[in-house]
Amino acid sequence: MARTAFITGITGQDGSYLAEFLLEQGYAVHGLVRRASGSNLQRIAHLADRVTLHQGDLLDQMALVRILKEVRPGEVYNLAAQSFVPASWTQPVLTSEIDALGATRLLEAVREVDPEGIRFYQASSSEMFGRVQEEPQNEQTPFWPRSPYGVAKLYAHWITINYRESYGMWTASGILFNHESPRRGLEFVTRKVTDGAARIKLGLADKLALGNLDAQRDWGFAGDYVRAMWLMLTADKPDEYVIATGRMHSVRDLVRLAFDHVGLNPDEHVKSEPGMIRPAEVSHLCGDYSKAQRELGWEPTVTFEQLIPMMVDADLDRLKRHGDAP
Ligand code: NAP
Ligand code: GDD
Repeated sequence: MARTAFITGITGQDGSYLAEFLLEQGYAVHGLVRRASGSNLQRIAHLADRVTLHQGDLLDQMALVRILKEVRPGEVYNLAAQSFVPASWTQPVLTSEIDALGATRLLEAVREVDPEGIRFYQASSSEMFGRVQEEPQNEQTPFWPRSPYGVAKLYAHWITINYRESYGMWTASGILFNHESPRRGLEFVTRKVTDGAARIKLGLADKLALGNLDAQRDWGFAGDYVRAMWLMLTADKPDEYVIATGRMHSVRDLVRLAFDHVGLNPDEHVKSEPGMIRPAEVSHLCGDYSKAQRELGWEPTVTFEQLIPMMVDADLDRLKRHGDAP
């Protein structure tokens, strides 16, 4: 019989890649979707007849219990979140409700429905390292979150560990560094830059306003990172793993690479706006993924130098075909 997985956040960047990956592995894939007045299914439209969607919300405990009773999954991937760091300053309570307490609600639902049969994955984040305490960051590095988002994710990280220690539940957590793709939301910096470079190239725009150009991140490809989630949930034992590339670049490097790819000089188009600097910045992040490599056999396959041109090309293609549609 096919193994059954349930994904929260299936309509997001990672959820869409994970659903594709699990379908390729022969899984029956179920996902949680929020009711919306318009469609939020664009990223999984091509999977419409292959996944089963259930209406619910991480804010709604009873719905989570009801859906798990109906689906009876062997694996639950908790990817749903308010994932945009700046929005966590303007909506800190909502961010905590979804990103922190949402994980507890889902863990409680698992505990209620099938605590011995369900394996649980929590989408933890390198944002938890915040003001970094050592270089590069690994599973033992102390946390110092710098945003309400990072604080909420740290709560979810620890409650995931706590349910393993308290109830013996099979709960794993991936501390994922930034990962991107042509499906990345348009407000995140990689996609904002690749979309901006493509727009300027096509004459649809002339300027691109960014925030802190000196911030540095360890950027990988989302398709590689969802494979790591599955390796964690099918491992012999539940644990925490850093997933990263081990290479760090600045926003300035990102801009240079994207604009070079379309033959433009960024100095003529890109400026840094002081108003876009965050109240508390995470200045740099770089992950040490050697534990995942050793224990899970995972490593990244797409470099930063391949990723950004891939995203620029996808944005050029989309803008040529659909103009301003997302
Ligand atoms: P994303 O594209 O922003 O997707 C977020 C998903 O969560 C969407 O499907 C969204 O649904 C759903 N969602 C939001 N609030 C919800 C709620 N109250 N109830 C149910 N679903 C809700 O994020 P992503 O980049 O795929 O990231 C996936 C997860 O990994 C997130 O938890 C993120 O915080 C974490 N993470 C991401 C990265 C990264 O670099 N991408 C790194 C580390 C950790 P709608 O479509 O309806 O909005
Ligand atoms: N979004 C954005 N927009 N970021 C900018 C801009 C801009 O115009 N200009 C500079 N930056 C800088 C930010 O200040 C930050 O230091 C860096 O670019 C990356 O910003 P984002 O792409 O928004 O990602 P993030 O690192 O804050 O958060 C992402 O990665 C986390 C993992 O470390 C999100 O995907 C989180 O959900 C995830 O947990």
